[in-house]
Amino acid sequence: MRSPINFSRWIEAHQHKLQPPVGNQQVWDKSELIVTVVGGPNQRTDFHDDPYEEYFHQFKGNAHLLIADRGKFERVDLREGDIFLLPAHVRHSPQRPEPGSLCTVIESSRPAGVKDAFEWYCAHCGDLVRRIEVQLGSIVDDLPGVYRQFYETTDEQRSCPSCGAVHPGRDWQRWHAQREAAATPRALT
Ligand SMILES: [Fe+2]
Repeated sequence: MRSPINFSRWIEAHQHKLQPPVGNQQVWDKSELIVTVVGGPNQRTDFHDDPYEEYFHQFKGNAHLLIADRGKFERVDLREGDIFLLPAHVRHSPQRPEPGSLCTVIESSRPAGVKDAFEWYCAHCGDLVRRIEVQLGSIVDDLPGVYRQFYETTDEQRSCPSCGAVHPGRDWQRWHAQREAAATPRALT
């Protein structure tokens, strides 16, 4: 059995990991519950399909989850002090624009054969552009390779099957700007 950890002191000791370029740190190795602390700033364009529930406790600063649901993007705000339980398989993309923000995320470990997926959606019409399934061993270590698989594709491979718009890949700022522009109703002419 492991000894209790003083959480404030743990945060202080891992402060350097809880900011870019790493941004997250797992508290216990080889545990059934995967407890991770995630810091900001970090913004992304991938949506996670977790086969199990995820628990969030946004204990410092604010963040939000973008939810992709049937061609629409919705936003779940995680304000300082909020706890939130995300159901399994809800496609979510955590956005952490505030430097110094901190969130505890608790996930279940995945037995062999139970796969996660990461998905990228068209900013213009919300259709699925790419899905990569993965047997997730480590949340911290396995993700960069998955992102690389998507970023290293050609514009053609990142084209939306519905509307043809090219997903900007690594350029998250452009993707979010396109998504916000597409969501803003145009003035009638
Ligand atoms: Fe599209």
